[in-house]
Amino acid sequence: MSIFQFDHVIDRSLTNSIRWDKYGPGVIPLWVADMDFQPPEAVIQALKNRVEHGIFGYTYASPKLKEVIVDYVQRMYHWKIQPEWISFLPSVVTGLHLSVRMLTDVGDHLLIPHPAYHHFKDAALGAQRDFSAYDMHLRNGRYTFDISQLESLVRPQTKLIMLCNPHNPGGCVFTKPELETIAQFAKKHQLLICSDEIHADLILDEGIVHHPIGSIGQGVEQFSFSLMSLNKAYNFPGMGMSWLICPHPEIQKKIMKDVHTLIPNPNLFAYDVTQAAMEHGQEWHSALIQYLRQNRDQVYQRINAIPGLSMAHLQATYLAWIDCSAMGWPDPYEEFLKAGVALSPGAQFGDQQFVRLNFGTSSKILDQALDRIEKACRQ
Ligand SMILES: Cc1ncc(COP(=O)(O)O)c(C=O)c1O
Repeated sequence: MSIFQFDHVIDRSLTNSIRWDKYGPGVIPLWVADMDFQPPEAVIQALKNRVEHGIFGYTYASPKLKEVIVDYVQRMYHWKIQPEWISFLPSVVTGLHLSVRMLTDVGDHLLIPHPAYHHFKDAALGAQRDFSAYDMHLRNGRYTFDISQLESLVRPQTKLIMLCNPHNPGGCVFTKPELETIAQFAKKHQLLICSDEIHADLILDEGIVHHPIGSIGQGVEQFSFSLMSLNKAYNFPGMGMSWLICPHPEIQKKIMKDVHTLIPNPNLFAYDVTQAAMEHGQEWHSALIQYLRQNRDQVYQRINAIPGLSMAHLQATYLAWIDCSAMGWPDPYEEFLKAGVALSPGAQFGDQQFVRLNFGTSSKILDQALDRIEKACRQ
């Protein structure tokens, strides 16, 4: 048995939690992507230390934190990076929007994944950039892209391709050959690659590894960058912390131009928790992955046993992408909400016939939610 208490249910109601307080009592909220688990003890201790000191002045990211990130990236992804390639941002979403605004101009065109986390599209729309969506479709049991479609979408005005790796909501982890294909495509058409890798440390399948885009060789580090964070995998998204790894100094300079004026630094707690998680969170993280793997298998078995619902095997993330089209419902999200489970509506990611279920919760809450989902479908 694990020494970590992932089964322990902590009441999150009335804590101003976006996830728990939107729908109120009576609805099990398995939507927005945070988990119901406390982070590693070392993270909580780092916060206590800062609070006990009692001074909360302007604080910079220490050179030590950059060293810790360099070591972490080497240990986790076998990628040797330089400290000067790292820049801090208060969130990955900030990084997505900044990349589009700072690296492209009005009249340029972008390639973004579909379905995908809504901020890819929002970044293009918000900056009034033209874009085309490339499909992440199910092939041999996993959601992946089709290079011939990418070739058909690219234009002379295309400047940037965005990746979500691991993919939210499809849960696939890009293989090295897939990334090489993207890199060759980007090189051929002189595109920059913006890779959102926030889910990198949530790989559930054994034997699969995450490859940051810049790690694959072939000179791709000269026209690509990664956005990373431990917010998801260590469950402190309310802290607000991410970093850019950009080996090309000119691209890095462009992205970061307005940071510290229009965009604030991460807050002092965010630096401390990230460093604590990297240095001391490994054991907790391994136990978390095992727990999430069991939850994933439970969701997969139960959802696929319900006539009218189906989902593909999920390699990574704690977000299941469930196809409800065979139910014939105009809006599956509404049907499940009526049954007392709040899921993320598929329309948010680009397909209304799907819902996304967050299984980063105790198995007890998950079971109750799956019972309600099953009942709603069997009525
Ligand atoms: C792919 C992806 N990128 C970014 C985010 C949000 O990151 P942040 O809270 O650091 O802005 C999420 C949250 O679900 C996500 O799934």
